[in-house]
Amino acid sequence: MNKSVLVTGAAGGTGFAIAERFAKEGYDVFIGSREKQRAQEAAAKLREKYSVSAVGYAMKTNDEENVRSIFGDLRARGSLLDVLVLNAANLGLRQNALTVDIKDFLDVIATNLGWNFMLARQAALQMKEKGRGSIVFISSNTAYRAIPDRVAYSASKSGILGLSRSLALDWGRYGIRVNCVLPGMIKTERWRHNYNDCQNAPSNFTPLGDIAEFEDIANAVWYFGSEQARNTTGAELVVDGGNMIQLYPVIN
Ligand SMILES: NC(=O)c1ccc[n+]([C@@H]2O[C@H](COP(=O)([O-])OP(=O)(O)OC[C@H]3O[C@@H](n4cnc5c(N)ncnc54)[C@H](OP(=O)(O)O)[C@@H]3O)[C@@H](O)[C@H]2O)c1
Repeated sequence: MNKSVLVTGAAGGTGFAIAERFAKEGYDVFIGSREKQRAQEAAAKLREKYSVSAVGYAMKTNDEENVRSIFGDLRARGSLLDVLVLNAANLGLRQNALTVDIKDFLDVIATNLGWNFMLARQAALQMKEKGRGSIVFISSNTAYRAIPDRVAYSASKSGILGLSRSLALDWGRYGIRVNCVLPGMIKTERWRHNYNDCQNAPSNFTPLGDIAEFEDIANAVWYFGSEQARNTTGAELVVDGGNMIQLYPVIN
């Protein structure tokens, strides 16, 4: 039986690139999205291109019953998960810390920490049966360096680091590894649409002179997910062109 991976928020963009990286390696792929049709379309693309089994799931954010039913379905298909990638995130955009509605603040925390924990726990229950598995959280370099008006998002991405270290410690005895990828800016559609705001970012804020392509994040996730990282747990890999180590923009 092929190894299998579940990636959340994988109908497009970064999440899809991560799912595709594993499909290329022959993994069976489970795509999570809040929209069933987009999840199924993404899965169909991977089936056609890589001749692997790929299934799209509709995911309900913050709903533990929905999480249990997805993992129940995986089991019914004869698949105990090998790799879980927690890519989906509530971005918590434009949250002014003085005025943000507390409900909106808590929604971000609930999704990025609570829901991810629900998913990680169900995955771990399956991985424990196999005696191995890998869980990869997508955090952010904003776990360490703040950006304006993203108070809950930054807090949640820092929280993910603590969550993943705790799980790495508690689940190491079952052969389950838990690690974090910390992207900086990624060339998403959002970034391309705001190009005028962001065009100086690659050259002036990053020592390597460029920000991440989807594939850069996918390759880092692949490392943690695969057996290449068999002795690595509780670790962080920053993929941001060096953005986080640079204090001031370069002024030419
Ligand atoms: N883009 C960047 O520059 C950047 C920088 C640092 C870290 N990151 C992190 O890298 C990961 C991927 O980034 P991205 O920019 O590609 O993310 P994204 O497209 O904004 O979000 C990833 C997926 O999360 C799901 N999602 C969005 N809002 C959600 C919500 N409120 N509740 C639940 N799910 C939601 C969406 O999937 P569905 O609509 O299909 O459900 C979306 O495709 C994220 O964890 C992000 O925090 C990104």
